[in-house]
Amino acid sequence: MAMMDKSSLINIQLAVERLQNADILSPQPDITTILSHSFHIPRHRAITGDFVLSEEEWARFHETIGERATHAPLQYILGKCDFWKYEFNVTPDVLIPRPETEHLVETALNLLPSRGKKLIIDCCTGSGCVAISIALERPENRVIGCDISTSALNIAKINKNRLSADNCSFLATDMLTSFAPSSVDLITANPPYVAEEEAPALQPELGFEPRKALFSGNDGLTHIRSLLKQAPVLLKKKGYLAFEFGYNQGEAIRELVEPEISGKIHRFEIIRDLANHERIGVIQYA
Ligand SMILES: C[S@@+](CC[C@H](N)C(=O)[O-])C[C@H]1O[C@@H](n2cnc3c(N)ncnc32)[C@H](O)[C@@H]1O
Repeated sequence: MAMMDKSSLINIQLAVERLQNADILSPQPDITTILSHSFHIPRHRAITGDFVLSEEEWARFHETIGERATHAPLQYILGKCDFWKYEFNVTPDVLIPRPETEHLVETALNLLPSRGKKLIIDCCTGSGCVAISIALERPENRVIGCDISTSALNIAKINKNRLSADNCSFLATDMLTSFAPSSVDLITANPPYVAEEEAPALQPELGFEPRKALFSGNDGLTHIRSLLKQAPVLLKKKGYLAFEFGYNQGEAIRELVEPEISGKIHRFEIIRDLANHERIGVIQYA
């Protein structure tokens, strides 16, 4: 039977109390993740307390717990985040990739044949998680991730090099303004889509993420309106735009897209996430 180390259980209990007092919603899983990522303790041992740390290591552990108690997201504290099949570096210069955005990658891959040379633009690329995941799954395609933030693009380039996504490159640009007309097969985008007026009600963790990664005007739709205007110019005939939007924006997206359907739009579909929220718009232009 595993031997419990008393000091492990005492230190874990102290950390749980500190995080609970700071209104952190998931103290135990956060502690397990910190122990396994930063101190290489297997998760099952981190849970049972069956491990030993030195005094210096416990001091570092409590320092990390102190950071988490300020509501700094765990991914920024650890400097990494799992997304799709890969681990991405993240810093406060980039949005933390969200699980629902993995549906955007899945959607893009369903639209791309497994062979053939296609050009894909990932607009609002941030850490490059979408662009790099698609590039690694479709090595014959060329993927360009673009973002207005050069500091975000520096992190995207680190991720591209670490994951050897040689068919992926990055470009600093305002939305889709730097691309030639009728040249692109697929545009993906997870743009900012939070309404400014929602800011006061958001979880404190979001305050650590870049403002320009989150907010998009008074109704949260400014960037999506730009995408819907710019994408058809850039796309080849029968090209696709696949974009993420907020869990409560499905109706607003329909109102923006449906008036165009009989003219320049060939097909329009909305895909739901695992929580059954409408999440991804897919438009095939005529
Ligand atoms: C919601 S984050 C998405 C990041 C990444 N694609 C992801 O899914 O994790 C939106 C990104 O859009 C970028 N952005 C904001 N305004 C932009 C603009 N006008 N043109 C291009 N990128 C912009 C932000 O810098 C941020 O990296």
